[in-house]
Amino acid sequence: MTDTRTIVITGAAKGIGRAVAENFAADAGTHLVLLDLDLRELQRWTAEHQGAATLETHVADIADLAALRGLFDELGKRLGYIHVLVNSAGICNENEPEDLDNWQRVISVNLNGTFYVTSLCLPLMPKHARIVNMASILGRAGKVRNTAYCASKHGIVGMTKALALDVAPRQITVNAILPAWIDTPMLRQELAVQAGIAGISEEQIQRNAKKKLPLRRFIQSEEVAALVRYLASAEAGGVTAQSLVIDGGVGLGM
Ligand SMILES: NC(=O)c1ccc[n+]([C@@H]2O[C@H](COP(=O)([O-])OP(=O)(O)OC[C@H]3O[C@@H](n4cnc5c(N)ncnc54)[C@H](O)[C@@H]3O)[C@@H](O)[C@H]2O)c1
Repeated sequence: MTDTRTIVITGAAKGIGRAVAENFAADAGTHLVLLDLDLRELQRWTAEHQGAATLETHVADIADLAALRGLFDELGKRLGYIHVLVNSAGICNENEPEDLDNWQRVISVNLNGTFYVTSLCLPLMPKHARIVNMASILGRAGKVRNTAYCASKHGIVGMTKALALDVAPRQITVNAILPAWIDTPMLRQELAVQAGIAGISEEQIQRNAKKKLPLRRFIQSEEVAALVRYLASAEAGGVTAQSLVIDGGVGLGM
């Protein structure tokens, strides 16, 4: 597999991670390593895969360092190199500030998990490799009942900046994408909870939400995948340590 471009994507079963996988799946000379907790969903769509890339899927909890060590040890021996890492796996749980269990779970998946996978990939990354981390606009701002999520995403942004400097001499780039209002199972689940609290239908809460967005629509995960493709390209070699917002302008509105 020496001439093959190997791309590891976490959280590849659903949402943004899956759109990224679908985007790269069209590429010949590419091997995708798709990781997720939800192996059944991963295998369901990879079974239908018609693209030119080759694929492999693994059930992996990014918060489980011991299991990840075993997986990346095996990947390193078999594949040799990892050219691109896309860290998309994440969870979004609201919490009260007193809820320490939730804090530990969200930090262990979103922040520790993202760093574990990155750290284990790095020794396998050649010159000009690419790392793209999925943060959030809540990596810049606060939100009520979101201490753990906000802390985890601010942490990813900080980690991205510092790591980018560590690996810059190897011409490896590290960037964070800060999405908001992307139409994925995570967003729909969040809106369903809010609809329940407000006592209105899911359709109604979606209509209400879209009215408040400058573009009057949710952003599609394929639009985020296009940004990932750019950051993973040779042309983006000068873009590193950045936080790129894709939120349809909502973060700058009044
Ligand atoms: N959808 C949005 O509007 C939005 C906004 C801001 C940030 N984000 C971030 O983008 C990323 C992707 O979000 P999404 O909307 O596609 O979410 P999603 O819930 O639709 O998909 C996330 C995927 O990650 C997997 N996953 C969760 N925990 C895991 C773990 N411990 N190990 C391995 N896989 C795990 C899930 O099984 C799922 O397939 C997340 O990091 C999220 O925080 C999304």
